[in-house]
Amino acid sequence: MALYSEKVMEHFRNPRNVGVIENADGIGEAGNAKCGDIMKIYLKIEDDIIEDVKFETFGCGSAIASSSMATELIKGKPVSEALTLTNKAVAEALDGLPAHKMHCSVLAQEAVKKALQEYNERNK
Ligand code: FES
Repeated sequence: MALYSEKVMEHFRNPRNVGVIENADGIGEAGNAKCGDIMKIYLKIEDDIIEDVKFETFGCGSAIASSSMATELIKGKPVSEALTLTNKAVAEALDGLPAHKMHCSVLAQEAVKKALQEYNERNK
């Protein structure tokens, strides 16, 4: 069996929502000290809905695929729903990740959560 699912390969080759949002309403960054990979998520939020989301990932293929999938999963969703995003949901949407690559999906969960927390802090 191939190590990576077709979906992982597809999102790695054609990542969705790559880039930066100027004047983002929330920015979150997560890193893994062991592998050194870093992920940054930018959110544009209007009326509590995630209107736009972009990412920059300096990392492995699974981290890029995880960021891409995470942005797809939260785009157009209310903030409250995006806050419930788990790394498991990201990995499942990618049709699975190898066990030693699950931490790559954790980066996506953490970066999204941090961006949402920053948005909530700013709007207190
Ligand atoms: Fe660390 Fe993928 S190897 S994020």
